[in-house]
Amino acid sequence: MKLLVTAGPTREPIDPVRYLSNRSSGKMGYAIVQAALDAGHEAVLVSGPVALVPPPGAQTVVVTTAEQMYEAVHQWVAWADVCVLCAAVADFRPASVEAEKIKKGSRDRLVLELVPTRDILLSLRGVHGRVVGFAAETNDLLAHAHRKLREKGCALVVANDVSREGVGFESDENAVTLLFASGESRVLPQTAKTRLAAYLIEIFTVL
Ligand code: CTP
Repeated sequence: MKLLVTAGPTREPIDPVRYLSNRSSGKMGYAIVQAALDAGHEAVLVSGPVALVPPPGAQTVVVTTAEQMYEAVHQWVAWADVCVLCAAVADFRPASVEAEKIKKGSRDRLVLELVPTRDILLSLRGVHGRVVGFAAETNDLLAHAHRKLREKGCALVVANDVSREGVGFESDENAVTLLFASGESRVLPQTAKTRLAAYLIEIFTVL
């Protein structure tokens, strides 16, 4: 099986020294790539900026912004048997990037205008049949995850509640619910992201 995996956050520049980003560590996506390789599969990792070493054996494309991640995913989508979009992509970016560092004395107030980024997961709808999305939510987990499954045309959504202590962002563990396009769902107990990744790889092979 050939897996295309996105991981980590994106960074959306404000000026040459500042950016908007989020708390994603990339651990879940990197664990999925490692588990895929361990099981004898091939993997391409499209990674935002993280503090992790890319698994040797995977082809890694390092990107910074949501736009770059979009382009990299579309370069590899035709190659992949399964696309696993694990990255926490910025939903908005500054409408314009200042050419020089914004000086604090230069204005009384600073209003950032943001515009939506392209939704990479949604862009694969109708383009690829085996797409896995992730849903990181702080409230109404299953309702939001079911909506993403439907609207974004995924075969599977891996949903996790990031408001819970000890799981999700920056953590080594995760507790997720799997929602399949078939209507089936599966609640998985809290476990190490590495173990969860190995289990997910088995699921991806039969999607
Ligand atoms: N995603 C993506 N491109 C984006 C935004 C999100 O590919 N520009 C993908 C993520 O990788 C994840 C899924 O969409 O697999 C859900 O991301 P999430 O941020 O939870 O949801 P959003 O689509 O941003 O929706 P909402 O803001 O309503 O939570």
